Amino acid sequence: MSIIEARKLTKIFGSDPKKAIPLLEQGWTKDKILAETKLTVGVNQASFSIDPGQIFVIMGLSGSGKSTLVRLLNRLIEPTNGQLLFNGTDVLKMSAEQLRQFRRKNIGMVFQKFALFPHRTVVENIEYGLEIQGIPKKERRTMAIESLELVGLHGYENSYPNQLSGGMQQRVGLARGLANDPEVLLMDEAFSALDPLIRKDMQDELIQLQAKMQKTIVFITHDLDEALRLGDRIALMKDGTIVQIGTPEEIMMNPANKYVERFIEDVDLSKVLTATHVMSKAETITPDKGPRVALQFMRDRGVSSLYVVDRSKKLLGAITAEQAANAIKVNENLETAMKPLNIIPTTSPDTAINELFEVMGQNKLPVAVIDDEGKLKGVIIKGLVFAALAGNNGIGDEN
Ligand SMILES: Nc1ncnc2c1ncn2[C@@H]1O[C@H](COP(=O)(O)OP(=O)(O)O)[C@@H](O)[C@H]1O
Ligand SMILES: [Mg+2]
Repeated sequence: MSIIEARKLTKIFGSDPKKAIPLLEQGWTKDKILAETKLTVGVNQASFSIDPGQIFVIMGLSGSGKSTLVRLLNRLIEPTNGQLLFNGTDVLKMSAEQLRQFRRKNIGMVFQKFALFPHRTVVENIEYGLEIQGIPKKERRTMAIESLELVGLHGYENSYPNQLSGGMQQRVGLARGLANDPEVLLMDEAFSALDPLIRKDMQDELIQLQAKMQKTIVFITHDLDEALRLGDRIALMKDGTIVQIGTPEEIMMNPANKYVERFIEDVDLSKVLTATHVMSKAETITPDKGPRVALQFMRDRGVSSLYVVDRSKKLLGAITAEQAANAIKVNENLETAMKPLNIIPTTSPDTAINELFEVMGQNKLPVAVIDDEGKLKGVIIKGLVFAALAGNNGIGDEN
């Protein structure tokens, strides 16, 4: 089951906001509604669901409704219309007390402006949220220290914010968001104010942290590179409306409309596409066949080498036409004659293309794509990679 589900979640700013709901349903744009009614559309009928453990990125230009949407999720902003479920529970029907518990136990938030108190030490900043929730001093100190260790701030407990760099301050912000060990962490442009290199570090750390703790993260950004790096799924917003939701690959390969296309046109595809996207079907043979059969297969299929796999498709090696011909002469079997696994180029399905160039360059054989179990999934053929980078969609054979 999804942890968060939004159904036509809508926020209109202005007086008597409900009157804009039927207009949105008729397809009026944000501009038209503003012109005719003076109401501002913050979020227009957003529907999506987020699975536990996902990093769900909400991306869009400034003013597109990202902050409004993320604040609807913990009811810091009250929706004008729509539904919101958390683990199947209707968040909009919660009483004040239930809502307080929900924010305390289930959901944490990290902001762009670190919003640290200058006169409080690092650990006192981290435990601030716990303090206003009335958690006893000893307990909240333990929780705060745990959270601080998690984000790599060990030893800085008693420093003051102004003694820390921007990156370190944001770690404090992150530790504060994590202090109550929430199931969901909402992060609104949390890294946008950081220098590019520090920002990359924080992104890497967030990915590691997520892998370790299995939190569900809703991450807001206006930066496509950041969205692609972090997102398991990305929702792209424009004028309050979600215009596309998909995996980074889906968005890159099949932009839903001109707006998305413009958003992604500067992106370096080699960082986004992975081996899976550019691989083709591998020609294979099992080792019980002899070198004569191997040569015949190569002729039939118009290739100059074959991958040798066992019956479960586990890759054992590769044999070239030259090796097969030689094996016939000296009466060797396929497994003795082939190049063993350790000398043929291989890669994993999710390796980014730009990391494949090196492997491709050094080798005559195509690069074999093998999964965690050593099973052959496909091969990378140089020409097809360049076709993909040239924006030629739909290439590759994903079996
Ligand atoms: N409190 C508010 N009152 C009126 N309009 C608001 C308010 N908050 C946001 N808006 C409007 O809602 C739209 C979305 O804003 P916001 O969610 O802050 O966008 P983003 O975070 O993507 O930059 C904008 O048009 C903004 O002007
Ligand atoms: Mg914002």
